[in-house]
Amino acid sequence: LEETLVLVKPDGVARQLTGEVLRRIETKGYEIVDLKMVTASRELLDQHYEEHQGKPFFEPLVEFMQSGPVVAVRVAGNGVIAGFRSLAGTTDPTSAAPGTIRGDLGRDWGLKVQQNLVHGSDSPESAARELALWFA
Ligand code: GTP
Ligand code: MG
Repeated sequence: LEETLVLVKPDGVARQLTGEVLRRIETKGYEIVDLKMVTASRELLDQHYEEHQGKPFFEPLVEFMQSGPVVAVRVAGNGVIAGFRSLAGTTDPTSAAPGTIRGDLGRDWGLKVQQNLVHGSDSPESAARELALWFA
């Protein structure tokens, strides 16, 4: 069975949307296998976002991700990697489709695109790597 890493980012936790995100995962039929609340370390985030190192939004993103606790979730299901990306919607909440987590619950944050409520692994390789990082 496929597994993915979902993060409820600090904005989602602060806005008390953790339950809403978990509800959407469960009502879709995916299984929550493991879950924890953590305030991520710089080291963990450097590794988690290694593909984005050197990009202009990298530092603000890592700072934002350390600004409060996140909820890390191990989710299992058929096609769950693509399936959760579909539930989440596109990266920018402004253009994310209604019906998606970011489209329904995200705000227009202006330049702060990083505040888009959730993260989901984008490939089997990313999922394996990220799950090993967050659930070592
Ligand atoms: P994740 O599921 O969080 O990985 O989102 P994604 O796969 O839709 O986006 P991507 O991996 O390209 O970028 C990771 C995160 O960096 C995004 O979720 C945003 O929080 C942030 N981000 C991406 N692009 C930008 C950008 O152009 N500006 C800013 N400020 N943040 C960005
Ligand atoms: Mg990504």
